[in-house]
Amino acid sequence: MLLILRKTYEDLSQEAARLVADRLRRNPKLVLGLATGSTPLGLYAALIDKHRNEGLDFSKVTTFNLDEYIGIPPAHDQSYHSFMQESLFKHINLDPRYTHVPDGMVRDIEAQCQWYEQRIREVGGIDLQILGIGANGHLAFNEPGSSLGSRTRIKTLSERTVRDNARFFSSMDQVPRYAITMGIGTIMEARELLILASGAAKADAVKAAVEGPITATCPASICQMHQRAYFIIDEAARSKLTQVPIEEVTGREYAAPGYQSLRLGEPSEIFGERRTRERS
Ligand code: PGA
Repeated sequence: MLLILRKTYEDLSQEAARLVADRLRRNPKLVLGLATGSTPLGLYAALIDKHRNEGLDFSKVTTFNLDEYIGIPPAHDQSYHSFMQESLFKHINLDPRYTHVPDGMVRDIEAQCQWYEQRIREVGGIDLQILGIGANGHLAFNEPGSSLGSRTRIKTLSERTVRDNARFFSSMDQVPRYAITMGIGTIMEARELLILASGAAKADAVKAAVEGPITATCPASICQMHQRAYFIIDEAARSKLTQVPIEEVTGREYAAPGYQSLRLGEPSEIFGERRTRERS
């Protein structure tokens, strides 16, 4: 697990975009896992900028979104379909045939979940999965208590998540209570994880995920088991970490057993790895 610290949300977003762009330039057929929520918006804006100004090409990219509300039609302005359309898809040159967002309106949810897993397998698996982290430590809609081996399925949202999401809906009774979500097992099969966290409201979740025990009580803590999990967090989100002596870190080095840290503002070194695997 690599912990990359950036001063502000803007810095964090730029760093994340640098990583995504690097992986995409190495592999134009990248299979990219996407997340919704406010956290990745800066990353998406930076990717749009790179598409427009640096010619970053998404035409051969396949995407899979983590989740979607059940009972919200794709055209609804709060659906994750709409969110992705507005914040990323319509601004870049993705081929719509290669974008996947679970359908929260299907009659047979179980079949839809199995199809989603199968599609991911068919394209060779997810190369890079972007993730936010919930204030309660959830990953996608894998709420506390979710099986750490879970696959794509229907989940009941926790009261905390329903409350956190209420700001997007005009009344509490409109806030969805169920979602289709990739499972934790599905997420863990991605070759690389990029977890973003910004702001003081995420500080407890970041601490539990990075320094806490691996437990279903904090699903994001499973990232400690992933060989290529990168947390990019800003100063406010790192404020409760106690095991990283930031001031003493002089470069990339082990700050504590189990993870590495990078000094604020220092270019990260996660870009030097050459990919050898090619997908047909
Ligand atoms: P947020 O949500 O980016 O809107 O804070 C993240 C999450 O719940 O996973």
